[in-house]
Amino acid sequence: MIHNKINVFNVETLHGQFQSFDGGPAIAEVIKFVKLYQLYSSAANELFTKLENLDSEFQVMHDYNPIHAIDSRMKTPQSLLDKLNRKKIKVTAANVQAKIYDVAGLRVITNYLNDIYTIRDLLVNESDIELIKEKDYLKNPKSSGYRSLHLVLAIPVFQSTGLKKVPVEIQIRTIGMDMWASLEHKLRYKNSDDSITKYAQKLEDYANQLLAIEQGMQVIQQNL
Ligand code: GTP
Ligand code: MG
Repeated sequence: MIHNKINVFNVETLHGQFQSFDGGPAIAEVIKFVKLYQLYSSAANELFTKLENLDSEFQVMHDYNPIHAIDSRMKTPQSLLDKLNRKKIKVTAANVQAKIYDVAGLRVITNYLNDIYTIRDLLVNESDIELIKEKDYLKNPKSSGYRSLHLVLAIPVFQSTGLKKVPVEIQIRTIGMDMWASLEHKLRYKNSDDSITKYAQKLEDYANQLLAIEQGMQVIQQNL
C-alpha cells in the first residue's frame, strides 16, 4: 500500500500563514485556527491508522488487499480562507468547525470496485465512527463523468481537555477513477485555456470505458 501524507500540519509555519493573508483571521483568532489544525490533523491520522489496520487485517485473513493507496492532506490555510470567502462565511474557527467538513481529507484508492463499499461499510460500522454526510457519485456520477464515494465521518480524538469529535472528509475510488479524476482536475484547474471543454466528450467516454474495464476485471478477480 502506498502511504502519502501531504501538507502535514506544522505549527510554526501555520501561525505565520494565517496571519499573513488579506481577509485572514484577527490575531486573537489565529491561535484558535492553529489549535483547530492540530486537532483536525490528529483526526486524519486516527482515520489513516484505522485504514492501515483494516488493510493489514485483510492481508492476513484473506491474502488480499482492498486498498491500493491512501493520501491524506490538510486543506491549506489559503484554500480554507478562499472557501470561506466564496461561501460568504465569516472567518472564525467556530464557523470552520460548524460549516466546513474538508479541513482534513483522506483519499482511499481501492484495487477493485467492490472494495469501495467494503471500505465504506467497515468504517461506518466501527462503533466510534459516525457518518455525517454521504455523496455517492458512483450511483450518481457527475455529468463530467466523475465517480467517487464521498463520506464525511466524525472521528473521536482524545486530547488533554477531553474527547473531541472531528469531521474528516474521505473520498473512496478505484485506481481507474483516480487516474481519470487526476487528469480531469488538472485540465479543469491548471489550464487557463478551454481544454476542459475541448476534451469534455472524450473524458466522459473514457470514464464510461474505464468503468466497463474495471467491472470486467472485477469479474475475473472474483473467479480466481
Ligand atoms: P464543497 O463545498 O467545495 O466541498 O462542495 P461539495 O461538497 O458540493 O463538493 P463535492 O463533495 O461534490 O466535491 C468535493 C471534492 O470532490 C472536490 O474538491 C474534488 O476533489 C472532488 N470532485 C468533485 N467533483 C469533481 C469533478 O467533476 N472532477 C474532479 N476531478 N474532482 C471532483
Ligand atoms: Mg465537499
